[in-house]
Amino acid sequence: MTRLGIIGFGNISISLAGLLQTQLERQLEHLTIVCRPEYSSQIKQIMKEEYNDIASEYCIATSIEALINNKPNLVVECAGHDAVFEHVPQILSAGIDTVVVSIGALSDVALADSLYNSARKGNSKLLLPSGAIGGIDLLASLQQYGELDVSYRGIKPPAAWSGTPASSLFDLDQLSKETVIFRGTAREAANTYPKNANVAATIALAGAGFDKTKAELVADPKAIANIHEYTVNSPLASYTFRVEAKPLKDSTKTSATTAYSVLREIKNCIGPIVI
Ligand SMILES: NC(=O)c1ccc[n+]([C@@H]2O[C@H](COP(=O)([O-])OP(=O)(O)OC[C@H]3O[C@@H](n4cnc5c(N)ncnc54)[C@H](O)[C@@H]3O)[C@@H](O)[C@H]2O)c1
Repeated sequence: MTRLGIIGFGNISISLAGLLQTQLERQLEHLTIVCRPEYSSQIKQIMKEEYNDIASEYCIATSIEALINNKPNLVVECAGHDAVFEHVPQILSAGIDTVVVSIGALSDVALADSLYNSARKGNSKLLLPSGAIGGIDLLASLQQYGELDVSYRGIKPPAAWSGTPASSLFDLDQLSKETVIFRGTAREAANTYPKNANVAATIALAGAGFDKTKAELVADPKAIANIHEYTVNSPLASYTFRVEAKPLKDSTKTSATTAYSVLREIKNCIGPIVI
């Protein structure tokens, strides 16, 4: 597998481009980057100046048809929830395995069904990376047995919740102590806080499902990083997982680990060992 497609060229994709240039044993044979038409010339320039060695050949495309015509073996979506709706069913139906980073989109039942059916139809795989969280291997193993009780807590500095419904419910600038801004199920969290829904969605999909996973979102003036923690109780094992994720440079919202988890998915697809 050396033909890759990336949808979107924002925080995660740019970070991933740097990793692909330095961390792969062999250069990619071909890379297609899909972007919105208005960003095409800017991205061409960035690629030429900074990532020219990323692949033997690369191109910037503005349509999914162009991406599919380039016959990638794997596509990575790093563009946002709308892009999952717009593009991923078509790519899976065309038989191309696809890594979806915007996992929160899967809280929409109709979209989740459409992705499942498209992957079935295309004999392809929808790959869901661990993203900003971890321990997903153990959680997904325990899911095989069932009877899971899972509670997730997402803690961020108050400023990281600006522009979300919490802005109108709380005076975020004035919070002096840890404050729960949302409590409900993972599905309700995904619907109410879609831009912060990816971790709760990943835990829900690997574990007890969207409607049985409890979620709490917290604004904490003492938090200097995004903290994700969850507790699992099951008849086979119980554990608590907690990660303090450093944000990507230039972005207060995206955890740096996410780009690395996508790199891991790509290496697992390319390399001789899957881990
Ligand atoms: N799974 C996780 O743990 C996790 C963690 C962090 C972020 N995310 C998600 O990953 C996604 C990307 O994050 P980011 O920080 O890189 O976002 P970003 O906003 O920096 O970049 C997204 C890019 O995609 C482009 N884009 C949007 N729609 C497009 C389309 N239809 N076709 C082509 N390009 C399109 C935008 O122009 C932008 O450049 C978001 O949905 C985010 O919520 C997931």
